[in-house]
Amino acid sequence: MQLRQLTVLLSLPTAILSFVVFPEAEVFQTHSEDLSLALTLPVPKYVEFIEAVHPEQRIQITRLSPEHVEPTEDLEDTDDQPLPVVIWHGLGDSADNKGLKEVAELIDSVHPGTYTYIISVVGGAGSADRQASFFGNVTEQLESVCHALAEDNILKTAPAVDAIGFSQGGQFLRGYVERCGGWAPKVRSLITFGSQHNGIAEFQKCKSTTDWVCQGANALLKSSTVWSDFVQSRLVPAQYYRDTNDFENYLNHSNFLADINNERKVKNATYAENIAALEKLVMVVFDEDRTVIPKESGWFAEVNLTSASVTQLKDRPIYMEDWIGLKKLDEKGGLDFLALPGEHMNFSDKDLKALFARYFGPSGRKFEKPSKEDGWKLEL
Ligand SMILES: *[C@@H]1O[C@H](CO)[C@@H](O)[C@H](O)[C@H]1NC(C)=O
Ligand SMILES: *[C@@H]1O[C@H](CO)[C@@H](O)[C@H](O)[C@H]1NC(C)=O
Ligand SMILES: *[C@@H]1O[C@H](CO)[C@@H](O)[C@H](O)[C@H]1NC(C)=O
Ligand SMILES: *[C@@H]1O[C@H](CO)[C@@H](O)[C@H](O)[C@H]1NC(C)=O
Ligand SMILES: *[C@@H]1O[C@H](CO)[C@@H](O)[C@H](O)[C@H]1NC(C)=O
Repeated sequence: MQLRQLTVLLSLPTAILSFVVFPEAEVFQTHSEDLSLALTLPVPKYVEFIEAVHPEQRIQITRLSPEHVEPTEDLEDTDDQPLPVVIWHGLGDSADNKGLKEVAELIDSVHPGTYTYIISVVGGAGSADRQASFFGNVTEQLESVCHALAEDNILKTAPAVDAIGFSQGGQFLRGYVERCGGWAPKVRSLITFGSQHNGIAEFQKCKSTTDWVCQGANALLKSSTVWSDFVQSRLVPAQYYRDTNDFENYLNHSNFLADINNERKVKNATYAENIAALEKLVMVVFDEDRTVIPKESGWFAEVNLTSASVTQLKDRPIYMEDWIGLKKLDEKGGLDFLALPGEHMNFSDKDLKALFARYFGPSGRKFEKPSKEDGWKLEL
């Protein structure tokens, strides 16, 4: 019954669907009031804080410290300017979430003057953006994000950008690098947190039995309809669902993951070139992650849920035959595996600051070689 309800709902126009799915929806309100509240957030004193919100565009936060406000004559100074940072949020989140603004502030506290750009797939924030994290064709969403970033005045003139993908936003930003790396703003460091690089074997556990959107999505993932074009073009998590026990169907029908992981017979060489051209791909896994099943997906590992055996990336063909450039990236010291204790997305400001110091900042900076290595695992 839930299945039929959801199927009917998925065929509704976006605005109505959004309202049904998120009854608290603000889709029929303007968001400008909401967002002006962000200006009341504590701001470091030395920072001049300018925030521009364009309801028709993506959210942008520009932070300029006084030394960067004056136009500089000295071209050498541009090497000190931190690269902009692009953020893609996770499932069920929206671009105007207070937490994301706090992340932008943390970046600025580590690298003053950083221009931060928070991706909203639909443009604008609030529930329409949250809804787009559940529903839509990821290929189309990604395409629109590529164009939005390519049209942004600051991003398009920067030498490169750094990027953070939270949860599913991580594999979407990786898809951005692979598909749009040739023409949209180039990424230097990409950090992914608890992402599903090797897909999910199950939809995340629903918080309550009456959360029927979640329950319905789960039912869809478990049914054979998960491989229909109908579901593959509408349910976002279905597009990175990967069932090793039903692998042929996955290869035949996956709308997103099988393609960006170059798992099909015909490989796209551009994807591999673009990943290998990154300076850093940093994959953070949460040790106690119970939301992403299996959590090892965050490190591109493959898990057999029946035997509970884990095949690490290095022992998989995607790496050994270098389908997407990970091996080449690794050989130049650009692939880092990190672990944080705790549940999905449970990080502290301290963790984030350490990562931003290590991987973001001026375009001219050098990256240290990882110091404390423990096999494939590098603790912060
Ligand atoms: C490979 O991917 C690039 C970037 O998305 C695309 O332009 C190109 O058409 C693809 N090539 C093939 C053979 O599919
Ligand atoms: C998703 O969108 C792309 C681009 O429009 C299209 O080629 C593809 O067929 C769509 N996927 C599905 C499953 O309909
Ligand atoms: C997958 O596609 C191939 C080629 O079209 C086809 O021969 C095969 O039967 C398909 N597999 C499944 C499980 O549908
Ligand atoms: C997973 O492990 C089980 C039990 O060892 C085995 O029977 C099955 O073939 C494995 N699945 C895959 C896809 O390798
Ligand atoms: C979140 O992280 C903090 C600090 O590492 C830890 O004390 C707490 O138990 C964690 N919570 C969960 C739910 O993992």
